[in-house]
Amino acid sequence: MTHHTIILGAGAAGLHCAAYAVGQGRSTLVIDHAKAPGDKIRISGGGRCNFTNTRTAPKHFLSTNPHFAKSALARYTPADFVALVERHGIAWHEKTLGQLFCDGSAKQIVAMLRDEMERAGADLWLNTTIVEVEKTEAGFAVTVERDGKRQTLSCANLVVATGGKSIPKMGATGFGYDLARQFGLPIVEPRPALVPFTLTGALHEEVKALAGVSVQGRVTAGQGGRGTTFDEAILFTHRGLSGPAVLQASSYWREGEMVRLSLAPQRDLADALLERAQAGDGKKTVETVLATMLPERLAHDICARAGVSGRLAEQGRKSLSRLNAAANDWQIIPAGTEGYRTAEVTLGGVDTDALSSQTMEAKAVQGLYFIGEVVDVTGWLGGYNFQWAWASAFAAGRAI
Ligand code: FDA
Repeated sequence: MTHHTIILGAGAAGLHCAAYAVGQGRSTLVIDHAKAPGDKIRISGGGRCNFTNTRTAPKHFLSTNPHFAKSALARYTPADFVALVERHGIAWHEKTLGQLFCDGSAKQIVAMLRDEMERAGADLWLNTTIVEVEKTEAGFAVTVERDGKRQTLSCANLVVATGGKSIPKMGATGFGYDLARQFGLPIVEPRPALVPFTLTGALHEEVKALAGVSVQGRVTAGQGGRGTTFDEAILFTHRGLSGPAVLQASSYWREGEMVRLSLAPQRDLADALLERAQAGDGKKTVETVLATMLPERLAHDICARAGVSGRLAEQGRKSLSRLNAAANDWQIIPAGTEGYRTAEVTLGGVDTDALSSQTMEAKAVQGLYFIGEVVDVTGWLGGYNFQWAWASAFAAGRAI
């Protein structure tokens, strides 16, 4: 069977690309080994899909080449995707920081993409194993197994949209990287990102006692704890640290590096406590007063770590400054991350040097395209990864 275009992967990027890759007399087939398309879309954003971010800008993406994503992001914007969502009558709202979610269910986004793709005339084969891909004179030969039968399909254009390695339980594989290597394309070493930190030893015991506590904090990671800063929630868990600020920071962290946490970044706690002493709280313990500013268990932990106890009136500035540092400049070294099991995305991927930033086509292999998460472009938390999937898919789809 001959197709104009075969798209490997029926996730966010693959489905969206299919709607644009189809043209008159150009048959397009999307292939996936999963039972259903867009599984990650379905579970994304707590089931409501944070489908884009109105603040999308190149600075919200990590890549060895930070300029690569600019062109595609400029040519398919959050407003373009919102217009599509609205054409399908899907109600949405902005939650925070430009993050747009469905009012109803993420399933609406999957249904919308499937509808767009089918309306354009593309076919979808699910439950299909990709056995082998080979280059031919006219394009590519793709051998698949479907309904227990093996068959070889041919196509002029092959789009790889098989995503990253995150959450193998949901069908994520390193297939796209292997295929890139097969065609001689370099890979930037993939690693889990947007992922909770794990801790060991005494630090783990300390944090375990805080499990369930959440604060609006600040986390800085990368460049030995002086790199990129995120002001969002920090969540203490039984295994370590999570919450949006931590997940964001994990994308910048490298093994063995220190991470800085600030648990009350809005104020200097020494100043705040001295004010409270002057306002008549001096007879209370430091811990009691601090517990009116921060969650009680956290106040207890900070006082213990700073070695500060007793009445507030008895404290000098030095001990209160120590307490502020324990809260606002807590330097920790994570043992690691929870890895691909829970990582929201995969950093690294197909080296952008090998791809055209206009079309996502491999420079050295005519007709071979890589889109979405398999490419070395990784967004921040907050709808940026889907926006990259839509934009890169559009760039390839329009070019085909
Ligand atoms: P995606 O992973 O969507 O699709 C890849 C497809 O390829 C899958 O259907 C898979 O089955 C298929 N495949 C893989 N290997 C194959 C093989 N060997 N053979 C055949 N098929 C194969 N982002 C965001 O912007 N907002 C959000 O709210 C969230 N929320 C979120 C929650 C959770 C829990 C996760 C894990 C991730 C998110 N993300 C997110 C990230 C987002 O889901 C992700 O970046 C995009 O889905 C990437 O789109 P792709 O199409 O590139 O890959």
